[in-house]
Amino acid sequence: MSKLDQLRGSMRHAHLAADATILDQLRRDAYISKTDRAQTHLRAVGLVNAIRATGNPGLMEVFLAEYGLSTDEGVALMCLAEALLRVPDAQTMDELIDDKITPSAWNEHLGKSSSSLVNASTWALMLTGKVLQEGQGIAALLRGAVKRLGEPVIRTAVGQAMREMGRQFMLGEAALTAADAARNFDEYAASIRALAPLCTSGDIRENPGISIKLSAIHPRYEFPQRGRVMAELVPRVLNLAQLTAGVGMGLNIDAEEADRLDLSLDVIQAVLSDASLAGWDGFGVVVQAYGKRAEPVIDWLCQLAQNLDRRIMVRLVKGAYWDTEIKQSQIEGLDGFPVFSQKEATDISYICCAKKLLGMSGRIYPQFATHNAHTVAAVLEMAGDKQAFEFQRLHGMGEALHDLVMAGEATRCRIYAPVGTHRDLLAYLVRRLLENGANSSFVNQIVSKSVSAEEICADPFAALEASDNVVRGVIHPTQLFGKIRDNSKGWDLTDPVQTGEINEIRGAFQNETWSVGPLLAGTSAGGDVEEIRNPANPADVVGQVTLASRDDATTALANAALWNESLAQRAAVLRKASDLFEANTGELFAVLCREAGKTADDAVSELREAVDFLRYYAGEGERLSGAAPRGVIACISPWNFPLAIFTGQIAAALAAGNAVLAKPAEPTPIISHIATRLLHQAGVPRTALQLLPGAGPVIGEAITSDAQINGVCFTGSTATAQLINRTMSQHLAPDAPLIAETGGI
Ligand code: FAD
Ligand code: 2OP
Repeated sequence: MSKLDQLRGSMRHAHLAADATILDQLRRDAYISKTDRAQTHLRAVGLVNAIRATGNPGLMEVFLAEYGLSTDEGVALMCLAEALLRVPDAQTMDELIDDKITPSAWNEHLGKSSSSLVNASTWALMLTGKVLQEGQGIAALLRGAVKRLGEPVIRTAVGQAMREMGRQFMLGEAALTAADAARNFDEYAASIRALAPLCTSGDIRENPGISIKLSAIHPRYEFPQRGRVMAELVPRVLNLAQLTAGVGMGLNIDAEEADRLDLSLDVIQAVLSDASLAGWDGFGVVVQAYGKRAEPVIDWLCQLAQNLDRRIMVRLVKGAYWDTEIKQSQIEGLDGFPVFSQKEATDISYICCAKKLLGMSGRIYPQFATHNAHTVAAVLEMAGDKQAFEFQRLHGMGEALHDLVMAGEATRCRIYAPVGTHRDLLAYLVRRLLENGANSSFVNQIVSKSVSAEEICADPFAALEASDNVVRGVIHPTQLFGKIRDNSKGWDLTDPVQTGEINEIRGAFQNETWSVGPLLAGTSAGGDVEEIRNPANPADVVGQVTLASRDDATTALANAALWNESLAQRAAVLRKASDLFEANTGELFAVLCREAGKTADDAVSELREAVDFLRYYAGEGERLSGAAPRGVIACISPWNFPLAIFTGQIAAALAAGNAVLAKPAEPTPIISHIATRLLHQAGVPRTALQLLPGAGPVIGEAITSDAQINGVCFTGSTATAQLINRTMSQHLAPDAPLIAETGGI
């Protein structure tokens, strides 16, 4: 295996590793002595005091002090910004402002800040010019709204707005259509042409540069689309790289969400390897220190540069998508996080990675992007030649810090300025507000007079040791539901290691053919046999089903019996079934994809939902202890969620002690057969759960028109639900419920 491949392997291994494991490795590979740490602290305290003495730390810092997310007004401002971006016309806009804004003491803020920019420009930064004009009236509007609606109503509305914001927080600037991607590409190219006349130096470090986001120039920049990405995105990036190289400018690939990292390296390798870029030192890559893979990524980049005999630039950042990464891992039920969970760990990682980069100056020109005085001080302590690297800051942030450092140390500082309309920049702005609003952030602390310079510049190594590496305040994905239930096991389909595992375990069932039929408490008379083919590939015969007959339905009804075990035992059996579902992931994935034509992504969601239903209803059964079962329940499920809805309906009825007759959708009997088999294996009695795969007009009709049925649970079309409703009204007891989910409602 080549060195490059080995490093790629280490990187993948680190993806979801424990914080402590990665930190130990970092501290070993880039040792920072106690003396260096002490010197850094002293230098950083000096910087913080100096910044505070200027009385003007920077635009964003002042903005946060005035309108931090911890104040009602800050929150209101975010709501306003978010809401206004979604509405098409002025009247609706006014109504939304009325509707969504919490009572706020705007008058107290207006004109108070010593920075006129905060009073005007920061508003402009977030809102459109139009809203700025309307902004004069916001205080009045708010007062009116409070009077009319009352505080509780408005507070509820704000809660709702915050949830909406939560969804926005997870947005990046990815292009969603080919047209958007093409437009973004053209704008990048136009920007390069516009900056070209400013590239007057022969030294690329002296010239302006451009940063691009790969997600902006391809609508499917995602791991499962690797083939398309390599064929379509690589030439686009190469094109931009050739343009920038041609004018002696730098081109930087911004780092985005963690699930794009592995793929981004393939793109980077393919572009950088192109012979046309030989001799150009302006290719730049961003590495996120909060990522568990930061160190091996740096090693890989250095090795790549060496293999290709190139010099590249690496911008070290901490990472801008922390909230998204944490949330996404929890939602996906991953076995850990791709990013550190403690702020100190991110700071340590940054310092260690910086030390590594400073030692790679033959191949890498390091660019240290940070607004944190302690981090800047650490770099200054470690760096010998102050011209061998540059600092970077974002426009509107870290101004005082970097002005001081440039004046005192003669270092370079590049300013990253985002370009676009307010709509394009919303995701960027939300990242800034979210990140800087966190109490742990440097920007937040420096404007807070109650935090001393010594505290702000506390040594992260010492702080983490003192905390004993214990992760605080972040819920591990497997613990998402606390004591209520375990989260279902997730799979990261953007991780080549995990996709490899999935392909292996489901691969064992790629050529399997299943032969299924009714699963009754009595003997099946049997009916017609039908062949099942893969809807996504009709040449693939998945198996065959023996359909249940009308006689089978009669047999099932005759043998159906309530599940006469204690609540606790029933719950335990359902939980055991959930574990069996997970233990049979390979078979279930294979059938979900082959019989139902699911994509891998959908198969993961489907299995996880089924597992979660089993655990959820086990818990609900216990919570509702005392409720009597209704009797025999007919469960009729649809083809589009052949495992999840099939299982959910059954689990709910079984948890309460009912007997179930389950009719799966016609196209997906194999999935339902496997699920039923696993439920029986877990301990559900045959008399409590019987499977009747068959045609709607035969089996569906039989089990919704018999007086022995005590209730029907149906998911499917509205027309069929109405038919069932009429049939039930003619034949079933008047109190037999129909629980129908039709058309997704
Ligand atoms: P600090 O306040 O010291 O650190 C904030 C960092 O700590 C954030 O990364 C935050 O996520 C992290 N953090 C907070 N709480 C925790 C916790 N509990 N556990 C672990 N970590 C935590 N970011 C990108 O992702 N991609 C880019 O391409 C990119 N380009 C940038 C370019 C420039 C010029 C600059 C200045 C920044 C760029 N960033 C980019 C943003 C950068 O990643 C940081 O978000 C930002 O600079 C804040 O870091 P700091 O050192 O200034 O602040
Ligand atoms: C971001 O877009 C600056 O690249 C960083 O948040």
